[in-house]
Amino acid sequence: AADLKTILLEINKKAAAYYYYQLRQETGKKALEYLQKRELSEETIKAFGLGYTGNYSDGLYRYLKSKGYSDQILKEAGLFFFDERQGMKDKFWNRVMFPIMDVNNRVIGFGGRVMGDAQPKYMNSPETKIFDKSRNLYGLNIARRTRKNYLIICEGYMDVISMHQAGFTNAVASLGTALTSGHASLMRRYTKEVLLTYDSDEAGQKAALRGIPILRGAGLRPKVVNLAPYKDPDEFIKAEGMEAFEKRLENAMNYFLFEVQVLEKEYDFNDPESKTEFYRAIAEKLLEFPEELERNNYIESISKKYQILPEDLRRMVNNMALSG
Ligand code: CTP
Ligand code: MN
Ligand code: MN
Ligand code: MN
Ligand code: MN
Repeated sequence: AADLKTILLEINKKAAAYYYYQLRQETGKKALEYLQKRELSEETIKAFGLGYTGNYSDGLYRYLKSKGYSDQILKEAGLFFFDERQGMKDKFWNRVMFPIMDVNNRVIGFGGRVMGDAQPKYMNSPETKIFDKSRNLYGLNIARRTRKNYLIICEGYMDVISMHQAGFTNAVASLGTALTSGHASLMRRYTKEVLLTYDSDEAGQKAALRGIPILRGAGLRPKVVNLAPYKDPDEFIKAEGMEAFEKRLENAMNYFLFEVQVLEKEYDFNDPESKTEFYRAIAEKLLEFPEELERNNYIESISKKYQILPEDLRRMVNNMALSG
């Protein structure tokens, strides 16, 4: 008999085909309209294999049973739950479906979005024998073929899809989880530079701050893209278009300067004491660059931006290094 992983991949592939088919049925009309309302072209819908669950609470289950799979195997797929009274039920119901592919284009899981404001907005397959969320990135199966020398990382399915549709086919997302070192080393196989386009809200900024050291740890150069006043890449591109977005990518901020910019918000420049503390905090951060040239380059950029003489900042750093 084929091994479990092979069968699970086969089940996921059949599920993706089932969802894809449902999107084209009469019952799938509202899902198709939803995707059109979000300005996705037919080509994009095809390229990402988007689908619809259908309206039945056990449509996929019955379809796969008709293909001869046992309940025991289907339970391993993460696509069903067992109800004491009603038996096996589909986990995803009345949702737009996003198949998640590994780098070899094999379907390993799904994300599903409600079409209105119901909660939870997204549901994802649980981790299974074939789906490790910390080692796969949405969109990387396409992004790996990019000719650009950097990858773009964002938060969401729709952000990846919007960016690809606008020509930025080097965009990927983590799958409803925080960025891990597994994601970072996966990206490092394809590139040295990663542009962060997380949501411009507080949560997105926190995610960027957490992601930076993880990317650096894998030997990647992170840069941070400013999307303000829009919330995410999807909304930015819809409002301003691909050329404006390209400019934002070009102006992506060095990760260290981004960290300092976030730090700045904790201090008050009108208060000399607070201002001094801010410079101390920067000086301390500058210690992370042991190489003199690199440190000096940062000192130069920072002194220009934050009204301090480079000599003063350098002296502060050197004193800390000595007493450290
Ligand atoms: N997410 C999730 N479960 C949720 C909410 C979010 O897994 N309940 C994940 C999804 O992968 C989602 C990403 O986190 O794409 C970002 O969430 P959010 O910013 O809320 O959604 P958007 O991607 O902006 O989705 P949309 O534009 O469709 O509203
Ligand atoms: Mn894991
Ligand atoms: Mn968000
Ligand atoms: Mn969005
Ligand atoms: Mn978002």
